[in-house]
Amino acid sequence: MHLMKKKTFGPVQAVQLGYSPIGPPIMSVYFYYLNGLLIDTGQHHMQLHALDAIGDLPVRQILLTHHHEDHSGNAAAFQKKTGAPVRGHALTASKLKKGYRIRLYQHLIWGRTAPVGMATLDTPIQSDPYVLEPVETPGHSKDHVVFLEKNFGWLFSGDLYIGERIKFFRSDEDLDAQIHSLQKVMRLDFDTLFCAHNPCPKNGKRHLSRKLNYLVTLKQEVMVLHQKGYSVKEIIRRLDPGTDRRVKWITMGNASFAHMVRSALKSVS
Ligand SMILES: [Fe+2]
Repeated sequence: MHLMKKKTFGPVQAVQLGYSPIGPPIMSVYFYYLNGLLIDTGQHHMQLHALDAIGDLPVRQILLTHHHEDHSGNAAAFQKKTGAPVRGHALTASKLKKGYRIRLYQHLIWGRTAPVGMATLDTPIQSDPYVLEPVETPGHSKDHVVFLEKNFGWLFSGDLYIGERIKFFRSDEDLDAQIHSLQKVMRLDFDTLFCAHNPCPKNGKRHLSRKLNYLVTLKQEVMVLHQKGYSVKEIIRRLDPGTDRRVKWITMGNASFAHMVRSALKSVS
């Protein structure tokens, strides 16, 4: 099943894409268009819809928040169609230069990202009157970057937010780095959060601060149990809200609440 919806937030156009081989999509992803800039590109399985949604709008630069295939999936296709450079973190560039292997569930839900040559992100991105400042925010992935439009109070936040109480981590996510990145972003000035899964047109900073509090509290709870001598397994069992079962099953364990606990314990293991 295919899902494609277009929404407008002032001058920012949002394209929401979802795909599922069976039944309705379990998760959708947004990418954004602003005055010649694309911020992320959607998943490969929705390539025709993504290209069609942008149509003949001029695309001068393609910005990626990170390499995950629901964000980078159509970068090569947009570059081929428009000739625009693809920009992102150096680690994103090295991942996408040759492409990277993905798991079965990633093939089924998003499809594999085609390799693409990328340019660096070393200066603010100008698209008059807009200026997007890249800010490194590792944690969800090592190469994660958000884009701040200071004058208009917008943050294109990729997967930094997703939700206030996230239910799972992928096995390679880093809790301490996410907390540090959220603390860094809380010092910036913005109100609108152009999240790639859950746009927050107002009070974006409040939403992010709730996520930060949730992660800090989880870290504290894990450490208290660790100091009391509980094993990793026991800590997971005591804190597990049981809301990750479907995702855990679909991803064959690559995404789970247990990975949040394991990541919290990384600094002491
Ligand atoms: Fe991601």
